[in-house]
Formats: sequence, C-alpha cells, structure tokens
Amino acid sequence: MPNYQAVLDATFNHVQPLLNKGKVADYIPALAEQKLGQFAMALHTNDGQTFTAGNCNARFTVQSVSKVMTLTMALQRYEDELWQRVGKEPSGTAFNSLTQLEFENGIPRNPFINAGAIVTCDALFSRLSAPIHTMLEQYRSQSGNAKVVINKRVAQSEFEHRYRNAAMAYLMKSFGNFTNDVEEVLWSYFNYCAIEVNCAELARTFSYLSNHGFCAQSQQQLLSAKQTKQLNSLLFTSGLYDAAGDFAYRVGMPGKSGVSGTIIAVVPGQFTVAVWSPGLDKFGNSVAGIAALEYVSEQLGTAIF
Ligand code: DON
Repeated sequence: MPNYQAVLDATFNHVQPLLNKGKVADYIPALAEQKLGQFAMALHTNDGQTFTAGNCNARFTVQSVSKVMTLTMALQRYEDELWQRVGKEPSGTAFNSLTQLEFENGIPRNPFINAGAIVTCDALFSRLSAPIHTMLEQYRSQSGNAKVVINKRVAQSEFEHRYRNAAMAYLMKSFGNFTNDVEEVLWSYFNYCAIEVNCAELARTFSYLSNHGFCAQSQQQLLSAKQTKQLNSLLFTSGLYDAAGDFAYRVGMPGKSGVSGTIIAVVPGQFTVAVWSPGLDKFGNSVAGIAALEYVSEQLGTAIF
C-alpha cells in the first residue's frame, strides 16, 4: 500500500505558499467570514482507513459538494426521466450563470451547476416527506458522525441572498420544468449546502464514489456500480464548472468543488479524498485545494488515465 500519510504530509508542506492566495466567497455574508490561510485534507481508502493533514477539526459547509448527494438521492428514486429535466453536458459557464437556461428552454446543462442542482432538488423534493431531515440523516450515517448539523446561519444568509438562484428556479418554472413551490425547494437546497462537516467526515461521506456505490459506514449500497461509474464520469466532465477541463488536465480525477473552499476527488477502486482551503480562484474553486489534489495525484500516480 502507498504511504498515504507521507504523501499527505508532503502535500501540506507543498501548498503552504498558496494558503493566502485567492479570495473567500463574499457573495453570501456568512461565507465571507471565513479566514484565508487554512487547510485540511483527508483521504479515506476503500479498506476503511482515513489519513489526514492540516486542521482536520475545522468544520465548514459542504456548499456545492451537496449537489453530488442530491443527485445520488435523486438517482435512487428516478430512472431516465430525471435526464429529461437536466442534461449531462459540461456548461462551460459559471456555476450560477443564467444565460444558457433561457436559450435551452429551462433545461440546465448538468446537475452540478446551480440550476441543475436546484431542479434535481425539486425532483427529490417530490419524493421525500421530510427533505431536509432525510438529507441530514444521510450525511450522519455516511460520515460516521451522528452529530453532523446544518449551519442554520449560513442557510439563512444564503436564503436571504437567493436572488440569482431564485431567478433560475422561476425561469425553469416558466418553462414547465419545476414542480414544487420554488421557495420551499430553495430552502431545502440552501440547507443541503449548509451541512457542516470536517474533511475526514466529508471523505467518508463520499467514499461510495470510489467503492462501486457501497458506503461502508452506513452499510448501504447507495448506487449500483454502473450508476457510480456514470456519476463519476459526469463529475469528471462537469464537477468544476468552467474549470472542469483544467482540473481534469491537472488532477485527472473526478471531482466536485464548493465555494466554502472544499473539493472532493475520487480514484475509483482506491480512495476518496476531501480537501478544504477557503481561498478561491475566479471560478469559485479552492486555489490550494486544486494544487493539493494535483500534487497527490502526481505523487501517487493516481490520475485515472
Ligand atoms: O448556490 C449557491 O450559491 C451556494 N450555496 C453553492 C454554490 C457553490 O458552492 C458553487 N461552487 N463552487
């Protein structure tokens, strides 16, 4: 087995000069309070070991990484009809862009941009009697920490500044691609984004992506092996928005980022890794996070090609 701990320690050193680079997300007041200069990373292997570096006690909200869980839970409840409502193509636009949605009749390009995640939330909302509670319980059982909570201040702050996301949802509604009450679905979407974890919990939560759909913590087969491959393929092409190509080139793993500065990445059959560092580049992706994953990939030779 590779010496994962040594690689994570070396990664922590490697990214030190980058920790104050980039800007924290400032379009939501509660997120703007995050401080630069922080870093944590955790790697969870398919045989159940977790290796960490940096400040792994630090807790942060999952933000857009929640889109992966939303899609997973929707795929458990829908067959192909979900793909009538959201596409599988890279958008080449910012995560919160509205333009394509108008030209493309209210069908978002993929489930990882905001519009795509919100319509997936709408689909999920139709199949759950307690959408927020069910999602939180899922994180609790998959992360191995029954005390995971939602940061309500972040959820509330996002809801109060929901203008762009609301515009997308209402635009989709105008095209007939939205079933439930927009405001209720947005509230669940923001609560999903505001689930708070540390890096080790996040790597464990998404460990099913490297483990053929099986989550060892919750002992659930969340997706079939085939669905897991499909989800990883979509993450590879669209997980980092309009920087997905650059991430694929540099890191070579399926991944998903969030504006809190977190990124998860997957080496199918081996491990899931989660990183967090709040300084973001102009695409909304963690500067040190991407550099750390690039370094891990080089050191371990784990780009999937
Ligand atoms: O919808 C939003 O604005 C956020 N709650 C999530 C955005 C996000 O994380 C985009 N990621 N890079």
